Amino acid sequence: MLTHFLRGLPYLRTVTRNASKTPPKDVPKTPARDAPKTPPKDAKTPAAAAAAAAPEKKDVVKKNAPPEGMLMNTKTEFGPLKDCDRLFQNLYGRHDWRLKGACKRGDWYRTADLLEMGPDWIHDEVKRSGLRGRGGAGYFSATKWNYLKSVKADNKVIIINCAEGEPGTCKDREILRHEPHKIIEGALLAGFTMGCEKCIVYVRNRFYNEACNLQFAIAEAYRYGLLGCNACDTGIKFDMMMQRGDRYLTGEETALVNCLMGKMGRPRRRPPYLHEKGYFDHPSVVLNAESVAVVPTILRRGAKWWTGLGRNSNSGTKIFNISGHVVNPCTVEEEMSMPLRDVIEMHAGGVCGGWSNLLGVFPGGLSTPFVGQCSADDVLLDFDCLQSINSSLGTGGIIVVCQDCDPLLVMQRSIEFYMKQTCKQCTPCRDGAIWLPEIFKSFSKGESHPHMIQFVDTIQQKMRGGSCICALAESQANVAVGLIQQFCPLIEQRILEYGSNC
Ligand SMILES: Cc1cc2nc3c(=O)[nH]c(=O)nc-3n(C[C@H](O)[C@H](O)[C@H](O)COP(=O)(O)O)c2cc1C
Ligand code: SF4
Repeated sequence: MLTHFLRGLPYLRTVTRNASKTPPKDVPKTPARDAPKTPPKDAKTPAAAAAAAAPEKKDVVKKNAPPEGMLMNTKTEFGPLKDCDRLFQNLYGRHDWRLKGACKRGDWYRTADLLEMGPDWIHDEVKRSGLRGRGGAGYFSATKWNYLKSVKADNKVIIINCAEGEPGTCKDREILRHEPHKIIEGALLAGFTMGCEKCIVYVRNRFYNEACNLQFAIAEAYRYGLLGCNACDTGIKFDMMMQRGDRYLTGEETALVNCLMGKMGRPRRRPPYLHEKGYFDHPSVVLNAESVAVVPTILRRGAKWWTGLGRNSNSGTKIFNISGHVVNPCTVEEEMSMPLRDVIEMHAGGVCGGWSNLLGVFPGGLSTPFVGQCSADDVLLDFDCLQSINSSLGTGGIIVVCQDCDPLLVMQRSIEFYMKQTCKQCTPCRDGAIWLPEIFKSFSKGESHPHMIQFVDTIQQKMRGGSCICALAESQANVAVGLIQQFCPLIEQRILEYGSNC
């Protein structure tokens, strides 16, 4: 039995060596904790970050290039955020979330004046701010808005995505229950800019109390003339409604639109894109709740203020959810590009058992590739820095994993999440969702063969091949490959131990 396992080992070692080569050599070296903080080399030129990334990443960055006219800064230190710069002043629900309380915190302040500046001014300001979507992909909002804005049609629809099924993420939920007026005001400004007269907010079914708060806030906005056929007394027509649904996959934008139309909540192929054929064939756009909720403050305080926070192309603030093996799991709004370690230690009381006990983190929800302790030491929490180490900021749901738990059980549990989420339309995704949990289960017991590591690699390549309709297949592949890269030696060891005990 033992010889059988040992025969596989030279081959296994090849896989291990290859795996360790996978992360790019040029991981940006962020400052040591006690040294004065300087931005990573790519801080000033996002294009340089793109060039430094792995070949397949180049295209992604190129496609998602910063909008022309975006303001730049020369900052070298990031965070902690000053209280006066916090957009979500009622994140913890200590104050009144209704209209009266919201107005006291500055919401709806001179919204009519902002609307009267016109759609081009609003769009330009969002472009200059370099705002990136907070739903996961980090697409530049101004570019996305422009697709719908340039479509000449009536009945355009703006859809706000509060599906939030990503494990480790609960930021939209906090906005819904404690700052619902920010979503309504943001939707009005964004919708008006893109020429929409109708807005639908899609809320996850189980967020019952949050949906009630939003519904109440919408009713208040109608009652005080902030929405309706003469929104904010400007003659602009803007209607808003809320609809509820459930399932992780309906967070994907085409699945969400299908769900809103009463069809099965499954993604569909693009083209046609949503801005061509969306909700009941009307041109539509789907935006994350946080991406929309920050818009009114950006317009009031100006793009310059927003770009003064965080690195270039990664500007502003972000809500992070810190969960897992930390002393104080919490939700916090922080400046973008703040070092991951600082965010965890400052707000969540640090890793259980100290920083040296850290195994790694999922930096942006479970679907983002696992970052091991070495990279977690230095990495900055922003889109470009995490992308340069082959991970992603995702939704900002930081899941901390410490060394007290079995990494292979973490692997198994993470991959099992996707088993029930696939809609089985695409063969690689469906097969991956069946095979990967089985394989990872056998890894955690050691009851496997080293060749299976190579098999995981084959499966994940097929899932990334571009033949799948939505990004869920790639998320599964990310989790699988990220964990294999980190824990390949441990899998080897577990297999050997199991073999020697037989
Ligand atoms: C499987 C899957 C689940 C998703 N779930 C969500 C979600 O819960 N909330 C969300 O805002 N975006 C989710 N997205 C991303 C959306 O498709 C879409 O890109 C996003 O809402 C766009 O908003 P943004 O441009 O403001 O980031 C998901 C994507 C996939 C592939
Ligand atoms: S990738 Fe998976 S979840 Fe997405 S459409 Fe295909 S089968 Fe469904």
